[in-house]
Amino acid sequence: MARNTIARIDPDAVAHNLGRVRQWAAHSRIMAVVKADAYGHRLDLCLPALKKADMLAVATIDEARAIRRLGNRQAVLLLEGVLHGSDLAVVEALGLELTLHHPSQVAMLERLGRSPTPRLWLKVESGMHRLGVEPEQVPALHARLLALPGIEQVNLVSHFASAESVDQRSVREQLKRFDAATQGLGGERCLANSGAILNHPASHRDWVRAGILLYGISPLEGRAAPELGLKPAMTLEAEIMAINRVPAGESIGYGARFTAGRELTVGVVGIGYGDGYPRSVVDGTPILVRGRRCPLVGRVSMDMLTIDLSACPEAAIGDRAVLWGQDLPIEEIAAAAATIPYELTCRITRRVRYRSITAGGAAEGPEPAGIRAGALE
Ligand SMILES: Cc1ncc(COP(=O)(O)O)c(C=O)c1O
Repeated sequence: MARNTIARIDPDAVAHNLGRVRQWAAHSRIMAVVKADAYGHRLDLCLPALKKADMLAVATIDEARAIRRLGNRQAVLLLEGVLHGSDLAVVEALGLELTLHHPSQVAMLERLGRSPTPRLWLKVESGMHRLGVEPEQVPALHARLLALPGIEQVNLVSHFASAESVDQRSVREQLKRFDAATQGLGGERCLANSGAILNHPASHRDWVRAGILLYGISPLEGRAAPELGLKPAMTLEAEIMAINRVPAGESIGYGARFTAGRELTVGVVGIGYGDGYPRSVVDGTPILVRGRRCPLVGRVSMDMLTIDLSACPEAAIGDRAVLWGQDLPIEEIAAAAATIPYELTCRITRRVRYRSITAGGAAEGPEPAGIRAGALE
């Protein structure tokens, strides 16, 4: 039998979370951000739940191609545009929309002699200093794009550096710069990511770009998803593969990081950093067995980790251990690993089997497809 290290994906939760975003941003259209294989939740399992999104957004052409290969014809925005002129033929063939974040990309379209798509998105630098054209260049570049044959609409976008922060000053300053740079220009506006959807209604404008919220994860420090009415879309689980007695004074695992202060019953769980569970978690990080929190003891190995079963003495070999998801907030595990939940879900490796949970209970999902199966050219 295969190793039961499983990411259970709940498409109904994704659809529910999209509905929550719709409530928060009631006057905006929603771009569902599904880059990095739907933040590690798998495109093939999540896209059917995102049919009601007004469009999709990805980072790379390969990700857009994976969407089309799944038979999905929703509008798709390439958030980073393209780097090479030769990519434009693929953009046209796949029917993608483009972000233009640099004057060189505008020149690329002028060399092509037309817009490869009727709708383009000009990205404005407003304070993040990652991608975006300088504010003073915006009117001229906007006009050049509008002059391209085949163009119908040039929209205006920007991205916030600190939308999840309770301190609103940085978002306010970015909004101010964006509004000044785009004043008087036609086209729709799109700025808000998940943090801004929750914290900054003034930034919602014509469109919002929702990522992490769709997967039932809170972008806000100190506010877990259930408090926001979100449902976690992924539950990561593994099996207890051995149960051992560890005498007082003996240490457990690599580097002897943890030493038992008294005799312990220790469960060995079949998941490690080779599956994407973070090695950086501290001792005491909770893992659920039979609904009870059992603390991690000792370093996470590549394929295994060890837990103190004192809270669950009746645990048996073969029991399911939940690493995060339903009943164990991923936000808490990310904090124990000194990272963010985004990184945890994106880092799950190909060793982990994915299963879709349908409304009628647990069902076998398709085997890895699309990006994970290496099905792309
Ligand atoms: C340009 C852009 N827009 C929107 C998002 C979605 O962000 P979030 O997942 O915080 O909603 C991202 C994610 O990194 C992004 O890079």
